Amino acid sequence: NAPVLQDKFGRRLHYLRLSITDICNFRCNYCLPDGYQCKTEALPLTVSEIQTLTTAFAALGTRKVRITGGEPAIRRDLPQIISACAQTEGIRKAALTTNGYNLRKHIDAWAQAGLSALNVSVDSLDPQRFHAITGHDRLHAVLGGVDRALELGGLQVKLNSVLLRDYNGDQLTPFLEWVKDKPVAVRFIELMQTGDNAVFFRANHISGAEIAERLEQQGWTLVPKDIDAGPAQEYQHPDYRGRIGLIMPYSKDFCATCNRLRVSSQGKLHLCLFAEAGVNLRDHLRNGDVVGTVAAIRRAVEGKLPGHSLHEGFTGAMSHLAMLGG
Ligand code: GTP
Ligand code: 5AD
Ligand code: SF4
Repeated sequence: NAPVLQDKFGRRLHYLRLSITDICNFRCNYCLPDGYQCKTEALPLTVSEIQTLTTAFAALGTRKVRITGGEPAIRRDLPQIISACAQTEGIRKAALTTNGYNLRKHIDAWAQAGLSALNVSVDSLDPQRFHAITGHDRLHAVLGGVDRALELGGLQVKLNSVLLRDYNGDQLTPFLEWVKDKPVAVRFIELMQTGDNAVFFRANHISGAEIAERLEQQGWTLVPKDIDAGPAQEYQHPDYRGRIGLIMPYSKDFCATCNRLRVSSQGKLHLCLFAEAGVNLRDHLRNGDVVGTVAAIRRAVEGKLPGHSLHEGFTGAMSHLAMLGG
């Protein structure tokens, strides 16, 4: 196995977060507060460019690739992309983050293509609130897809719920009930400020610390993190099959355990979720040039900063879709 790429701070970067499109079919209010519409985009990375990319990352010790968007399921060739990631030598996990639209229809094919982990955005278990947040009355359809994913077995399944003061401020009780018998991790995510949600952010940001406190009072305990885990702190309880996680990017030391790099749907390498500047890998990818891609990634990583820019109040112009995806 290739030795793992490290940054100047000794963080081991073995996790690639790869966006395959900026387009999304949902209109989540925290993501697109002004109804931003992205109808067209320059041609996103092709399957063959993705193959070159994952081969280069694997040569640098990457073990896990998470496919994100926009909404990745917008792409018809998603099964081929999953399979390209899963079959890259050295990559042990191909993961996907989706809004769950048509999950029920696609999940068997994705699993067959080699998907090993699935994160689904479910911001509320109340159908009306789900509708109000996402613009789609599809809670039951999404949950049907989640059930199918669990039925298939062998897939690690997680739910994402962004904490929003005015929409789902108290989500803990229904989700606790929901994870009682389901082997799923539900992660509450603190709303992050991005280029286009400043007003919404001020009105709706709440901290996850209160949830952590309530969990601890009710006998939930922190689970040590897996080596290839993302930024969530997960809690477990002997009476529950599922877990509850917290993603608190505004908390101290959030970036200290960062293990990832991000590549945009246009093939730009970003050193942080919140790094607007990126290094263009596309020319190497277009030429199938693994060696050139490896060298460009190595060079770029020297510049990885110790933390994100969220504390300074994010002022960049980049949209949510491009940065966080669904
Ligand atoms: P796993 O741990 O592999 O399941 O992935 P994940 O939780 O990182 O992936 P997912 O796509 O489900 O993202 C959940 C939330 O974490 C989203 O709101 C992401 O934007 C956020 N997130 C993921 N990586 C980072 C990061 O490096 N920095 C920050 N600030 N947020 C991140
Ligand atoms: N803050 C926190 N999480 C966000 N997501 C999208 N935008 C934001 C934001 N501003 C979440 C989505 C999805 C995941 C990829 O990122 O809900 O679950
Ligand atoms: Fe919602 Fe994700 Fe789509 Fe943004 S990218 S609108 S958060 S599903």
